[in-house]
Amino acid sequence: MAITIEQQVQLSSHTTMGVSAIAQYVARIDSVEVLAEAFAWAKKNKVAVLVLGGGSNVLLPSYYEGLVLLIGIKEKLIIHENEHTVELEIGAGENWHELVEWTVEKGWIGLENLALIPGSVGAAPIQNIGAYGVEVEEYITKVQYMHTESLELCWIDREECDFGYRNSIFKKELKAKAIIVKVRFKLPKDAQIKADYESLRHFLMHQGIDEPSQQQIFNAVIQVRQSRLPDTQTLGSCGSFFKNPLLPTEQVDRLKTHFPDVKTYPMPDGYTKVAAGWLIDKAVGKGFRKGQVGTYDQQALVIVHHGGANGDQVHEFADFVQSEVSDMFGISLEAEVQII
Ligand code: EPU
Repeated sequence: MAITIEQQVQLSSHTTMGVSAIAQYVARIDSVEVLAEAFAWAKKNKVAVLVLGGGSNVLLPSYYEGLVLLIGIKEKLIIHENEHTVELEIGAGENWHELVEWTVEKGWIGLENLALIPGSVGAAPIQNIGAYGVEVEEYITKVQYMHTESLELCWIDREECDFGYRNSIFKKELKAKAIIVKVRFKLPKDAQIKADYESLRHFLMHQGIDEPSQQQIFNAVIQVRQSRLPDTQTLGSCGSFFKNPLLPTEQVDRLKTHFPDVKTYPMPDGYTKVAAGWLIDKAVGKGFRKGQVGTYDQQALVIVHHGGANGDQVHEFADFVQSEVSDMFGISLEAEVQII
């Protein structure tokens, strides 16, 4: 199987931020065999490698010197099923929302709260995607990856993935060492549906829905997301650009004496999470714009690209947001987006 390497490829349509970004080399990966060949090629030619899944959580520089791998490994298998649960094995290149749609159609419970998250299945474990009261770690059983040095295929169990808030082993010890190729999920057929997240509960209440079905949660999540987050087909973004900072509760209590309406979420072990969107809203504002880059007019945590900018300009705007928040609140925001 001979690998095809393309040269000087524009990647703007491969990321949801949509900034102009040229890659020196690009290879399209549809199997683990081609993935291994791509790594062998990069080693032989001594070039760096960057992996792109759905491109929904990455900010590219205007020129990438090296080989970009576009992961398109497809597979949707039911590997085990009984009356209570189903186990699925899904290729990293499958579209996340299409997977969610399929599970909802089948009545397999769990992923409906994660509807409409842009990106691919392979990217989901990396930052442990989460929304509306659910984090994907709850439903993942195993992840298969290729080790970038040994080119071996390894399975890693959920317990070893070291999942945390928008975090996992793939952002830590295995950063740049593992390319996810498959993800296994175990979904219950008769579990309780999760409708406790505040904005979701309000939305359902307004619709007069007391005991939502899985399909109603799925529809509600889609509508809430569409009202709060930009459609990446028409406006460039990576969803939330920063993480919600986790701070010692004492520090948050002091903050509350100056800003009583700051939005917070109590966490275990004396820590409190602060809504980064609220901080940015106060320090910068929604719909604030510098040239072609700004905050979204419905959600200040989302940085949007109005077209024609490059990654460096988006990066500059993110630095500006960080410094405004730091000046006003003494809090340093950490990017959720992977900045290359
Ligand atoms: N808020 C403001 N102004 C803003 C934005 C938010 O005051 O401009 C306040 C809101 O009023 C709300 C609070 O901040 O009380 C939290 O806002 P929201 O419910 O929109 O959630 P979030 O914490 O900003 C997180 C995730 C989203 C996920 C939503 C819903 C992170 C970094 N972001 O956002 O995930 O969809 O909760 O569960 O944890 C993503 O990761 O890309 C993403 C979109």
